Amino acid sequence: MKTLVVMNEKGGVGKTNLVAHAGWYLAERFRTLVIDLDQQANLTATLGAHVAHVDSVALFARPTRVPGAGALTVTRSTRDLLGVEGVDRACIETFRDSLAGMDADYDVCVIDTPPALTNRTFGALLACDAVLAPIGINDYSIQGVAELLRAVKGVSRHYGRPEPLFLGLLPSIFDRRSRRERELFESLAEQAGTLLFPGIVAKRDPYARAASDRAPVWAMAGAAARDAGQEIRGVFATVAERMELRR
Ligand SMILES: Nc1ncnc2c1ncn2[C@@H]1O[C@H](COP(=O)(O)OP(=O)(O)O)[C@@H](O)[C@H]1O
Ligand SMILES: [Mg+2]
Repeated sequence: MKTLVVMNEKGGVGKTNLVAHAGWYLAERFRTLVIDLDQQANLTATLGAHVAHVDSVALFARPTRVPGAGALTVTRSTRDLLGVEGVDRACIETFRDSLAGMDADYDVCVIDTPPALTNRTFGALLACDAVLAPIGINDYSIQGVAELLRAVKGVSRHYGRPEPLFLGLLPSIFDRRSRRERELFESLAEQAGTLLFPGIVAKRDPYARAASDRAPVWAMAGAAARDAGQEIRGVFATVAERMELRR
């Protein structure tokens, strides 16, 4: 099993939308586990049809395995996840051990993280093979990038493990009609260079419908949905290739 973490301590940058679509996409080919670590539980709602009988919080309490619920299996976010943020950091390693115990059960795991650099995100960083960081194309989001990279490196150093593969900063709600965003994107591309993911997810209306219909954009009718589907599937094809996912 290879594990991908989608993280950015900023909220509203498109993390949950990406993880939901990654789950749908990867489950077409791989035994896929999706872990919702955000107590707001938007992902649990969107992927509700695939929720297992194991809550995400259990993975932090003791080494826990999640029985597969078909091609796509989702662990549910609950308010108890807030309890993981106490002083005891042993839960970070327990979470890592829970995932290690499922190595043969799934081909790929995708983790949605809360908008904070806390125990849950550190657990995800300790357990992962690769990190994808959606960003907004605005000053605040771009200013947060250094801290995000520090967290990725810091967790690896603290636990004496190799750094995960950094797949890149992915503009995830990119409004190409906005001149300001296009200009910021150009300057980001110059500064961030290879830190930038080779692709984007544009701001598009069908994503709102994806969340309420609980279905991926590529399953919807219409030209806008088709364009959105092609674009985001291209992003995940690159992710799967760079992570060398296999069945
Ligand atoms: N590419 C996109 N185009 C349009 N709306 C989007 C896009 N990505 C996400 N959204 C919407 O923006 C809001 C925030 O996205 P979300 O994935 O919940 O961000 P986060 O998990 O980082 O807080 C949601 O309402 C979501 O449906
Ligand atoms: Mg979210």
